[in-house]
Amino acid sequence: MSQLETVVHDASEVVVGKREGEWPGGDPGDELLEVHEDAAVAVVDGAVAAVGSTEDVCREYPAENAEIAYDAGGQTVVPGFVDPHTHAVFAGDRSDEFEAKLRGKSYQDILAEGGGILRTVRAVRDATEADLVADLREHLDAMLAYGTTTVEVKSGYGLDAANELKLLGAIDDAASDHPIDVVPTFMGAHAVPEGRDADEYVDEVVDEQIPAAAEQGIAEFCDVFCEEGVFTVEQSRRVLDAGRERGLTPKVHAEELAHVGGTKLAAEVGAASADHLLHSTREDVDALVDADVVPVVLPGTAFGLGADYADAETMLDAGAPVAVATDFNPNCHSRSMGFAQSLCCVEMGMTPAQALVAATEHAALALDRPETGRLDAGAPADMAVVDAPSHVHVPYQFGENVVDATFKHGERVA
Ligand code: NIG
Ligand code: FE
Repeated sequence: MSQLETVVHDASEVVVGKREGEWPGGDPGDELLEVHEDAAVAVVDGAVAAVGSTEDVCREYPAENAEIAYDAGGQTVVPGFVDPHTHAVFAGDRSDEFEAKLRGKSYQDILAEGGGILRTVRAVRDATEADLVADLREHLDAMLAYGTTTVEVKSGYGLDAANELKLLGAIDDAASDHPIDVVPTFMGAHAVPEGRDADEYVDEVVDEQIPAAAEQGIAEFCDVFCEEGVFTVEQSRRVLDAGRERGLTPKVHAEELAHVGGTKLAAEVGAASADHLLHSTREDVDALVDADVVPVVLPGTAFGLGADYADAETMLDAGAPVAVATDFNPNCHSRSMGFAQSLCCVEMGMTPAQALVAATEHAALALDRPETGRLDAGAPADMAVVDAPSHVHVPYQFGENVVDATFKHGERVA
């Protein structure tokens, strides 16, 4: 017989997800979301068995019969956040670069001087896999406490086969006994290593690193930094095609610092997502929509760089399933999907409901996991319990952790 594991009851709100056909919605307070008030969620076998009013749910699934009964009196239950873009496995400290940027130095200047990504590469090459695992575990713990239940983590600070595999191994190891679902991405084409020619390095990525990563069998996606001064559209296409041939689904860092055509490339290769998009045009966004590519905005990066934000309003206007991620990395040191949602609202014109959808079910689409990010019956019972009476408090209470409890497959994990 199936075991009633968990009943979360007496929540002031349970948010299931967006209502069919309502995206992107418009005014705050509209009917974009399916919300149950005075509500409960019952979990059987790690999946949502019932969601609705506490009275209805508890009639069928009495809280006293559950292994875990959680009284969410006055709190709000939302789907666990899905963070679809991070570089969370790294070594070293780049806080001095934050100061340099505040004094006016650009991200590109720092990279050109051998800092930025290249500096993290040196630190990673000096680190053992065990060091990387220990740091990553701490980051995953923090994310879980902030309500994130699924997170993508990229390699990309190794820039040679041995170190890229070391990073992917560290991701796999940290994930193996951690409650968060970790989605690994290979990103050997994250920068051109010092003293190397870009074309010749792309040859190495295509001929050596991608086959080795595929053989290792950890990575699910293949990402590339398609950017002025990094990899051109044609070099990026070579990397993504080679990844696809070996079973790795493409993702693209597109138009972060300049407009070079990465968004259209993402559409042409049928990527799962195109990320950053600070300089994308309406035409680019239409191409993503036509090709079913999820646009992922990373407002923490713009915040940290003091840069302009991606044009989310154009994406919403085009009907694109906008997703949001933290982009957690040494250049954007935030692990909080709550803060990312605050920036969506305050800096990008999104409503709290749109930001929540971006941080949950749309983010799950960017990871090819359509079954997660919602709390329909049958979905994985991944939930964040917000210590406030409505979902609006997630972006409203910026700079704080509003999450009181996190559940993964119905089990309380933070
Ligand atoms: O997505 N832009 C490329 N990659 C990261 C930054 C990595 C770093 O600076 O270490 C990003 O923002
Ligand atoms: Fe990134």
